[in-house]
Amino acid sequence: MKRLTLIISIIFIFLGVAAQKFDNLAKKPPMGWNSWNKYGCNVSETLIMGMADAMVSSGMKDAGYEYVVIDDCWQVSRDENGEIVVDKDRFPHGMKYLADYIHSKGLKFGIYSCAGTLTCAGRPAGRGHEFQDALTYARWGVDYLKYDWCNTGTQEPKSSYTTMRDGLYAAHRPIVFSICEWGSNKPWEWAGAVGHLWRTTGDISDSWNSMINIFSLQKDLARYAGPGHWNDPDMLEVGNGGMTTEEYKTHFSLWCILASPLMAGNDIQNMSPETKLILLNREIIALDQDSLGRQGVCWRDNGGYQIWMKTLANNEKAICLLNSSDERKSVLVDFALLAQAKSVRWGISTPLKLENYTVRDLWEHKDLVLKESSMYIDLLPHSVKVYRFLKK
Ligand code: GLA
Repeated sequence: MKRLTLIISIIFIFLGVAAQKFDNLAKKPPMGWNSWNKYGCNVSETLIMGMADAMVSSGMKDAGYEYVVIDDCWQVSRDENGEIVVDKDRFPHGMKYLADYIHSKGLKFGIYSCAGTLTCAGRPAGRGHEFQDALTYARWGVDYLKYDWCNTGTQEPKSSYTTMRDGLYAAHRPIVFSICEWGSNKPWEWAGAVGHLWRTTGDISDSWNSMINIFSLQKDLARYAGPGHWNDPDMLEVGNGGMTTEEYKTHFSLWCILASPLMAGNDIQNMSPETKLILLNREIIALDQDSLGRQGVCWRDNGGYQIWMKTLANNEKAICLLNSSDERKSVLVDFALLAQAKSVRWGISTPLKLENYTVRDLWEHKDLVLKESSMYIDLLPHSVKVYRFLKK
């Protein structure tokens, strides 16, 4: 009996020490690129290496994008020892080679699997192989694991994801753990202790309706996010062609106001100037990556017109005016009032005095010239205006 207690204590100490390695990860919402939104199952070594190159040459790496993530369909079977087998036709040099290449660019390497018996695309998944797969991923040099929820039958989500997390701990390589359970079992209530980010909804698609609907479902989740544990409203569609430039600016701004993970999902090797201006807008990215790690909240909701607020470090804050309606709107905005505003419900915005701040337009990259504290702002349909109260 004593021996058993000793063994159990050693296991707990071991997992505790391992856990510390993971605690320092994802202090800010992870940023990177993921293959799924644009390429689906059409992934290959050439594609991923090209994206890693583009991450550097496009300036995305300098702007903070870090993880290059291969989503579903890199795996084909398991061998006689239960080891996961990589699609050799598509990844002829294997995953370690790819990880080394990505690391040589100063970037990090992410991969995908699933808690069920098969992935969502029907490939072999992790169920029953969690510790073995974690060791394999560690050996390859994986830095980020997205873990899906297809083909899970009667599995219980928290314990399934905890098993994989313990596998990662035991493999001793710090790996960001991205829980992709689509919000089905309120992961915001339990996933903070299990992974670093969790999907809050089903899959995004490249349309205004899908994007704005997913955004609307994030409203009550702000209190669950913070450094090391983030709500994930899914990857970005910016640049994929299904929305207008104005809508993509809105999509990107809203994700940054939410302190969401920023996983580009487009062809970053061939970006239009407009797409680049969006994904590389450092003033907007800075809201997402703010060190306080607060998710923005909705301060006023008039249906088609909403005012969102994000508390920032250094007693600053950001304001996002959203016109989600199909009509142009002219709104009278009182910046002194917005500066003072706080969200009583969440108690998270410090009231500020406008005279101590400059109001900066983060898409125009200009400070506002305010003759009075109020002014009319013109909002195109499906558009945003994003301002930062910057300390003078
Ligand atoms: C699910 C996930 C997507 C993607 C696909 C891959 O639908 O939610 O993000 O990973 O599986 O099959």
